[in-house]
Amino acid sequence: MDIMHGVNLDQLGRRPTGHYGTFTFTELEVRVKKFARELDIDATFWQTNHEGEYCESLHKAAQRADGLILNPGAWTHYSYAIRDALELTGVPAVEVHLSAVDEREEWRRVSVIRDLCVGSVQGKGLDGYREALELLKAALGE
Ligand code: DQA
Repeated sequence: MDIMHGVNLDQLGRRPTGHYGTFTFTELEVRVKKFARELDIDATFWQTNHEGEYCESLHKAAQRADGLILNPGAWTHYSYAIRDALELTGVPAVEVHLSAVDEREEWRRVSVIRDLCVGSVQGKGLDGYREALELLKAALGE
């Protein structure tokens, strides 16, 4: 499985702690990889601040992964480019957000990828990634 992060998530630790906690992106990576090991999942962790790069990575996703966990950051709410790229991957995806996006600003309540995903987790911080891994594992019949 591939865990793909988008714009500004590399800045965790400097972002509003009420929404995102105090941990850094590296600390998130360590925790999520531990969750994956516990669930016997082989997971890679990746981040970019470049939307085109995120799309290109989705284009090739099926060649390297059987499933995807996506936290595209703010792109979630408006990037039809990422939506279209996700649509052609052909592998199941779960959307995850650290914060409770549906309880924040109006514009964050929109997800242009949600209906393409087999599951969505939000507002559970780090633990949300464990739930996302479990959902994806179940979707893959593992
Ligand atoms: C986020 C929520 C987005 O609205 C925001 O732009 C992010 C992070 C989350 O994980 O809660 O960058 O995806």
